[in-house]
Amino acid sequence: MSEQPSLVDARLGPYLAAHARGDDDFLVALKSAAAAQGIPPIWIAPEQAAFVAILLGAIGAREVVEVGTLAGYAAIRMARALGAQGRVRTLELSRKHAAFAREWIARSDVAGRVEVIEGDARTSLAALAARSVDLVLVDADKGGYPAYLEQAARILRPGGIVLVDNAFAFGQLFDEQPSDPDVPAVRAFNEQMARRTEFESAILPLGDGLWIGRRI
Ligand SMILES: C[S@@+](CC[C@H](N)C(=O)[O-])C[C@H]1O[C@@H](n2cnc3c(N)ncnc32)[C@H](O)[C@@H]1O
Repeated sequence: MSEQPSLVDARLGPYLAAHARGDDDFLVALKSAAAAQGIPPIWIAPEQAAFVAILLGAIGAREVVEVGTLAGYAAIRMARALGAQGRVRTLELSRKHAAFAREWIARSDVAGRVEVIEGDARTSLAALAARSVDLVLVDADKGGYPAYLEQAARILRPGGIVLVDNAFAFGQLFDEQPSDPDVPAVRAFNEQMARRTEFESAILPLGDGLWIGRRI
């Protein structure tokens, strides 16, 4: 056994994607329609989606909350992994993104199992019942992450899972002069998440880095 951490470098991205369940024709069409409408391609990576699907099955999840819908890509992939009894509530600030996602979810094989809740996630999360959710995926404005984590700790059942995307700060985590203005917020969040005692947590080197935390 070695204590040497595995080496993560940019070449692994395509390799990981090629070895995980990819997108079907519907999801390829969704992404292409989103691009045509000027929606940025900032959905989670397919290998992240494949991992989340495995996790949802492993914990027997039924109630999922996503912070940041965009085009509905992750919401659809998660709903597919939940089965007929499961439900995804996905929270989105942008009217344009919410409208696009609703349209494509309605056309998908999981129509009726995904609800897009439009508005600031800070408000929408506060309306959800405590200890009622199996998994929360946080993937929205980085400045909001501390508030979303507080709400995740409240709404998750004991043993529930929080996932938080972009722990590697768009690949700029160690840059001395990062070009992305959200990098300081990601760094600060990572420090905060590492110290939280109500979650057992680690960063998975999948996609742009995915925090996984289990609610104690
Ligand atoms: C990275 S994208 C989400 C991608 C999506 N999780 C996926 O993988 O398919 C981030 C989304 O968060 C939304 N967003 C930003 N600030 C928000 C807020 N305060 N409340 C809810 N959504 C917000 C953005 O409009 C954008 O659509």
